Amino acid sequence: MGRRYLVTGAAGFIGSTFVRRLLSQQPDALVWSLDRVDGVIGRMDNLAGIGSERHRLVRGDICDAGLVARLFADARPDVVVHFAAESHVDRSIDGPGAFVRSNVQGTFTLLEAARFAWHGDFAGRRFHQVSTDEVFGDRGSDDNVADEGTAFAPRSPYAATKAAADHMVRAWHQTWGLPVSLTFGCNNLGPRQHPEKLVPLVILRALAGQTLPIYGDGLAMRRWLHVDDHADAILAVLAHDRTVGHAYGVGPTEGTTNLTLVQRICAVLDARRPAGAPHAALIRHVADRPGHDRCYHTSAAALQDAVGWRPRIALDDALARTVDWYLDHPAWVSRVTSNDAWKAWMARWYGDRG
Ligand code: DAU
Repeated sequence: MGRRYLVTGAAGFIGSTFVRRLLSQQPDALVWSLDRVDGVIGRMDNLAGIGSERHRLVRGDICDAGLVARLFADARPDVVVHFAAESHVDRSIDGPGAFVRSNVQGTFTLLEAARFAWHGDFAGRRFHQVSTDEVFGDRGSDDNVADEGTAFAPRSPYAATKAAADHMVRAWHQTWGLPVSLTFGCNNLGPRQHPEKLVPLVILRALAGQTLPIYGDGLAMRRWLHVDDHADAILAVLAHDRTVGHAYGVGPTEGTTNLTLVQRICAVLDARRPAGAPHAALIRHVADRPGHDRCYHTSAAALQDAVGWRPRIALDDALARTVDWYLDHPAWVSRVTSNDAWKAWMARWYGDRG
């Protein structure tokens, strides 16, 4: 019999990619997804086409302890993969309360449910925390790489709530022996990412002939990974018992400045839509994000040593595939971008940046 999975945040960008790859790579896995499906970030259409008898979606909140306990009783998961989180740094600056609730209280609720449901019988079980390289804070330069032993130094409300959650995951392991693992992912790109994040925001605004907002001088640096590579890294961690109790950075070995990344997206768009070229003419420098981390990343060396993972999709290929996905899915784009609450937030946030 296959493993039984509970995946939180499965209707989001990375969660839905993970569920797809899990179902296709493990033909006997049973997957229960838990997601609020708020209609903005968590979307039914992100799960469209999965249609497997081995997958079941439960709509609900990870902070709802009663619901989570019932789900553990019904699904009897061996493996919990915890993606559900508020994840947009700008929104955490605009209103941090929702981040504390989902990322801290939500993780606590899941950890307690796992502890009580598994009741000390931890053989073959796993609680995997999907975290971020942002918990290590601003590294200053691309060669000052953090690894899993580096102390947390989060600088945004978002990163602080993820660090708090990660501390709890480690504490539940130390105190009760809960079989945990953690991954610190870098910036992702790929299909179904909500256009509140840089890559889809730039693609969609450029296609619409709108300006492309670059915070500050555009020299902040990020490491970028195709979401399929990220999902496969987590699957590789879960495939090995030796990864229990460990944490791993997930990412490529080089960073890219925001300005360069946006110019590379524009070059792909110039090739696909020559009538709008040069799309880079739409770039505008706007007021910087408060507390903007200049550079963050983690080393994936430990992950490569432990499970042999390395990224397969080079950044140029990832950018081209991502642009093509957005060009090929106008109905998804139109549903996502016509949300009134999101449009109002965008108008206010970017209006204030000048
Ligand atoms: O490193 C992993 C993290 O990457 C994840 O944990 C976060 O959930 C994810 O949102 C991402 O955080 P960033 O803040 O790096 O992503 P974002 O797409 O918001 O911004 C990427 C960079 O681009 C960042 O330096 C800010 C800049 N930026 C972003 C937006 C939305 C701009 O210059 N203009 C923009 O309009």
